[in-house]
Amino acid sequence: MPDIPIGMMAAVRIGAAFGLLWFGEPLLAAKVSLDASHWGNPAGEECVNCHTKSSAGLALEWRESAHAKAGVNCLDCHRAEATDPDALKHEGQVIATIVSPQDCARCHEVEFRDQQGSVHAEAYSLIKERIPAMADNLTGMAVQAAGCDQCHGSRVKVKGDGTLDPDTWPNSGIGRINPDGSKGSCSACHGRHLFSKAQAREPEACARCHSGPDSPDAEIFAASKHGMIFASQRHRMNLDSPEWVAGKDYTAAPTCATCHMGAAGKLPSTHDVGMRNAWALNSPVSQRQYLVLLEDGGKLEIPAGVPIPKRGEEIQKLDGGLAKVKAVVTPERRREVMSLVCLECHGKAFTQGFMKQFDNVVELFNTKFAEPAKAIMADLYQGGYLTPLAFDEPIEFTYWELWHDEGARARHGASMASPNHAWWEGMYLVGRNFYGRFLPQVREAAGAEAQAIIERHLTDEAGHGWLAHPDQVNPILGLGLDKGGGDG
Ligand code: HEC
Ligand code: HEC
Ligand code: HEC
Ligand code: HEC
Ligand code: HEC
Ligand code: HEC
Ligand code: HEC
Ligand code: HEC
Repeated sequence: MPDIPIGMMAAVRIGAAFGLLWFGEPLLAAKVSLDASHWGNPAGEECVNCHTKSSAGLALEWRESAHAKAGVNCLDCHRAEATDPDALKHEGQVIATIVSPQDCARCHEVEFRDQQGSVHAEAYSLIKERIPAMADNLTGMAVQAAGCDQCHGSRVKVKGDGTLDPDTWPNSGIGRINPDGSKGSCSACHGRHLFSKAQAREPEACARCHSGPDSPDAEIFAASKHGMIFASQRHRMNLDSPEWVAGKDYTAAPTCATCHMGAAGKLPSTHDVGMRNAWALNSPVSQRQYLVLLEDGGKLEIPAGVPIPKRGEEIQKLDGGLAKVKAVVTPERRREVMSLVCLECHGKAFTQGFMKQFDNVVELFNTKFAEPAKAIMADLYQGGYLTPLAFDEPIEFTYWELWHDEGARARHGASMASPNHAWWEGMYLVGRNFYGRFLPQVREAAGAEAQAIIERHLTDEAGHGWLAHPDQVNPILGLGLDKGGGDG
């Protein structure tokens, strides 16, 4: 961790003094930002009438919704300009099938502002990078639409007649690129056509994407004490409440939405799920993350260790454009904000102690396994012991799973209090694979040079000293268990 520059310390203090504000900007969730005269287009009645016959389930879901109750109809959302790339002529109206975040923003501006530029909105832009190795070579492009893209999002393509290309839609991936250029999909969490906030507060709203190796959070939550209490006490969760402030409207247990999005005490809710995370847990080596807020409303995640830009500086964005830095939120500040949620239901020493146990696991994973494994892989590639292709040699699968599967499970498990995932499904498998598969495969690949490579990167300080004591008696494997006689 580099030292925090003076300017940023000031930012930390300002942030801490105004607990409710992120550097002057209130994040308290929006009320609807238009008055009712902006919706209820009478032509929308026709849509409901006909669709109640042609797609009854869909129309009835809408009838149950807060939108129907407030008078927001089909056309209020689906209306389009004839010049929109995905505009369709439909029963005398111009509509678009996709209702993008930008469309929702006509009425829900604050949620839109939080969501755009968040790690969720950037999820498609992010995986583009790794698709050739994973989805083209290892499998095939066909699975992209039904697999990766359903979680991460697709780039939705419009055919000449305004209809949507089935290679890219249906899709409600979290970072989908919409025909209007906006990113993401609000119905990823708010199932249509109910669009309910109560439903999105449930852990199931996240489970479709946050389960399995990339992000095993649904399993972890279910196995944690929070998940256990949530399941047995849901009747006390007050999920239908108009406001849903932890410590006020409910106290039984937190859900995913509580910790990553929800209001707690005086902390406002947010539609930027990455805001409160201090680490990047899904990377070969975890790094603490700075959040850079830009004057044009954009955001950037910057890992500790690279130069952190200063307020007022002009920097390059992911899309290549330039923008000025408005504020920098340090990992310490992000941790503090996450802890405010815990503090509604737990004490300070408990919360800090828990975070220390979590950080220790991440650091153990980094120094003992992730950094040496990464350095050894670099040596193998450099020495020509492996081809530059990904996934054509066994050790590449071992290395990938070490950080991506068990490595992520261990780190996520420790961060969200599932001892089973921190240990048996996590660090235990990391250790097993490192010593039982990875190192033997290094020896296989590099032959006579292997021992020198291994010794260069495995140090006593990082916890590998035990390898130098082959005489150590190991009762776990049965050796020496009979010593002293027992009941024999
Ligand atoms: C007279 C009946 C009728 C009316 C009126 C009507 N629809 Fe439809 N609509 C349909 C039918 C039937 C389909 C299915 C067509 C198909 O997919 O084969 C459809 C399809 C759609 C689709 C999916 C389009 C696609 O292919 O992606 C949307 C969105 C839609 N309607 C919205 C609306 C809206 C909004 C209105 C009001 C402006 C409306 N409909 C009015 C009957 C109607
Ligand atoms: C709050 C905004 C909103 C309202 C109101 C609304 N829709 Fe939708 N609708 C959406 C969104 C969002 C999608 C998902 C499209 C996408 O983004 O991929 C969608 C998708 C659809 C689809 C195509 C998807 C499918 O499952 O076949 C149809 C058809 C449709 N809507 C019809 C209607 C009809 C009919 C009504 C009125 C009874 C209506 N919508 C009201 C937002 C809305
Ligand atoms: C079941 C949903 C799902 C599928 C399918 C999926 N991902 Fe992910 N992926 C996620 C989630 C959720 C995260 C976020 C993990 C985090 O930040 O904790 C993620 C993270 C990532 C990341 C960033 C960090 C990492 O773990 O590597 C990359 C790159 C990635 N996925 C690529 C892919 C590719 C490529 C595919 C398909 C070959 C794919 N994902 C399939 C849900 C999915
Ligand atoms: C990652 C899941 C997720 C996505 C994506 C998402 N939401 Fe939400 N949304 C939630 C949750 C959870 C709540 C309830 C928050 C609470 O009450 O603490 C919510 C609440 C809301 C509310 C009610 C706010 C209030 O205070 O009454 C609106 C409006 C809303 N979302 C609109 C949107 C719009 C618009 C988008 C797309 C730009 C969107 N949501 C995308 C999860 C999501
Ligand atoms: C034309 C204006 C308008 C549009 C467009 C619109 N909404 Fe709404 N939305 C409303 C109104 C009005 C309410 C009801 C507010 C209330 O009950 O206080 C509402 C309420 C909500 C709620 C809270 C529901 C609950 O359980 O209380 C969610 C979530 C939501 N909208 C999501 C969306 C999403 C997602 C989109 C885009 C797909 C969207 N809205 C598009 C006007 C709109
Ligand atoms: C449609 C799929 C999908 C849904 C639904 C979804 N997510 Fe995600 N989420 C992702 C993907 C993909 C990523 C990785 C994005 C990236 O790294 O850019 C991610 C990343 C995250 C992150 C990591 C942020 C960081 O700092 O790296 C958090 C936290 C998160 N999601 C929380 C939630 C919560 C809470 C919900 C439910 C209320 C939810 N997500 C619903 C797909 C989804
Ligand atoms: C008790 C609060 C709490 C609950 C409940 C919770 N999380 Fe988390 N989550 C955390 C904390 C704390 C972290 C670690 C944050 C950090 O990086 O410092 C975390 C990390 C994550 C990450 C990895 C982000 C990263 O830094 O890479 C994802 C993704 C995520 N959670 C999603 C979820 C989902 C989905 C659920 C529900 C199934 C959930 N969380 C439930 C507190 C919670
Ligand atoms: C809405 C209230 C609520 C919030 C918010 C909350 N928790 Fe909890 N948590 C509970 C309850 C209730 C229990 C069960 C208490 C018990 O039986 O020990 C619990 C249990 C735990 C446990 C297991 C304790 C044990 O030893 O059995 C850990 C660890 C934990 N919480 C950490 C956190 C962290 C870290 C946060 C914030 C990121 C957090 N909690 C946020 C209510 C909450």
